Amino acid sequence: MVTAEKLYEKLKDIQVGNPVCRFTRENCELLLPTIQRIEDLKREKNAIILVHNYVAPQIYYSVADFTGDSYGLSKKAKESNADVIVFSAVRFMAETAKILNPGKMVLDPNPNGGCSLADGITANDVIKLRKEFPDHTFVCYINTTAEVKAQCDVCVTSSNVYGIIEKIPNDKIYFLPDRLMGENVIAHLKTRGVYKDIQLWDGTCYVHEEYQPESIDQVRNNFEDVEILVHPECNSSVVDKADYVGSTSQMLDHVRESKRDTFFLLTECGLTGVLQSEFPEKTFAGSCTLCKYMKSNSLEDILNVLENPGPNSIVEINPETQKRALQCVDRMFEYTS
Ligand code: 13P
Ligand code: SF4
Repeated sequence: MVTAEKLYEKLKDIQVGNPVCRFTRENCELLLPTIQRIEDLKREKNAIILVHNYVAPQIYYSVADFTGDSYGLSKKAKESNADVIVFSAVRFMAETAKILNPGKMVLDPNPNGGCSLADGITANDVIKLRKEFPDHTFVCYINTTAEVKAQCDVCVTSSNVYGIIEKIPNDKIYFLPDRLMGENVIAHLKTRGVYKDIQLWDGTCYVHEEYQPESIDQVRNNFEDVEILVHPECNSSVVDKADYVGSTSQMLDHVRESKRDTFFLLTECGLTGVLQSEFPEKTFAGSCTLCKYMKSNSLEDILNVLENPGPNSIVEINPETQKRALQCVDRMFEYTS
């Protein structure tokens, strides 16, 4: 188990987000009884805890068994032999774990953890669209509900969306729900000489849609040799000015391998915090923004869900929906294997 000293070592360099992300050794001491109790319950219940890269660092660096982006964590959920999977992130990620491993108990400590993308389209919307676009392959971003996945053909994440849409043997694609990501896919395929009829749903991530290219110009003026990393949920005028576009884990790996010393990330604060902790010798310029859904995860909720899960915290999916959604998600693994 992590000690207060080790936890403080991990958290002391983090200076982003809100005051919660500025830690003292004393703060870490105060967290220890909750962490200890969670570790005991993990052992008792044969549980694992999966934590997304955006989740608060005191969770990320204490009780997580695996951390990562939505693709990496889905893979861990699929392969897990644990009896219980606690998914500290947002609802659609916990649902995806249940789709992939329906025999396990999947617990969501943050059952109201929505997502502006996943909440912006329903299964009925997709049913209607399929009538309107009968020849199109329906590709859904993983940021969708199980019911929406069950109506689609192939699931993608930010780490594989460009490659999968290029590989799908159909020139007619309906991509949902992220319009900005879809526009980035179209622009990327154009650079590769690939032209497909790609129709888009008009959803956006309320965090990433706010970033503007002017902030990149400003940072480039102020920091010589800065490397700009952006998430593909950003708008295309931001993506056009970036040096690197990728999922949260791909950005982390890119910084690890980069020879540069200064970076500017246009994505949720949690990732910048992880990078500040992992690479204290590097500079992370500019500000970042918070996803209120990811940031509503707490250590107390993880403890409560392991001790006494409420009905909304136990992820249940209708078996027919699960079967159909699994085909959609499994196709993603087939395309990426
Ligand atoms: P990643 O799969 O890149 O971690 O993204 C998930 C997400 O919700 C980004 O806003
Ligand atoms: Fe959804 Fe955006 Fe939050 Fe990611 S950052 S979980 S896309 S609202």
